[in-house]
Amino acid sequence: MSESWGEEEKQAGSTPPGPEEEPPVVGWLFAGELLLNAALLVVLVYGAFRLYVRWRGAGTGGATLPRMKRRDFGLQQLREFDGTQNPRILMAVNGKVFDVTRGSKFYGPDGVYGIFAGRDASRGLATFCLDKDALRDEYDDLSDLNAVQMESVREWEMQFKEKYEYVGRLLKPGEEPSEYTDEEDVRDHSKQD
Ligand code: HEM
Repeated sequence: MSESWGEEEKQAGSTPPGPEEEPPVVGWLFAGELLLNAALLVVLVYGAFRLYVRWRGAGTGGATLPRMKRRDFGLQQLREFDGTQNPRILMAVNGKVFDVTRGSKFYGPDGVYGIFAGRDASRGLATFCLDKDALRDEYDDLSDLNAVQMESVREWEMQFKEKYEYVGRLLKPGEEPSEYTDEEDVRDHSKQD
């Protein structure tokens, strides 16, 4: 009550208690928090954007070679395209061969995923393994993989289809390569694009 506000307090220079007011420091804290959140959001969006750009442009730094004519490959034929004997790098995923030359920063001899160059990468991708154990010298029918691993192989295949040029099939032992006419080659390539 104002009556209780005595001379002593007036002399001490303190002000009478007014209606409840937030100390200004609370406002500053709130503004600071807002600013921090906005900055974090900008950093996150920028990071996501950079990842996207790198993903789309992963070819940069990789050699650009003329599109390879459609053809099928046996395991041994695929091995020639491991990036050491030939600048073109091929890799098979789930029975499909892709030209991953534009991703040579990944699949070149010094690339982190270079172990997959010229090979059937299906087992390695399915089991998330970069060891030699995941590569077979014989044709790998993947029949021992479980449903989740097989689903993962299919997802990788979709990802490769999106990003790289499909070249042809990986042949099972004894399977004959298809004869692709120029017309089929152009038509199938445009289907893959
Ligand atoms: C801690 C482990 C790993 C990390 C942090 C990692 C990180 C990454 C990143 C950041 C990318 C995108 C790179 C870019 O677009 O610039 C990528 C792509 C990829 N990763 Fe990994 N990775 C790891 C393990 C693995 C393993 C074990 C495998 C295979 C068994 C694998 C296979 C791949 C493949 C095939 C790509 C796609 C490359 C392409 O675009 O052609 N990664 N990884």
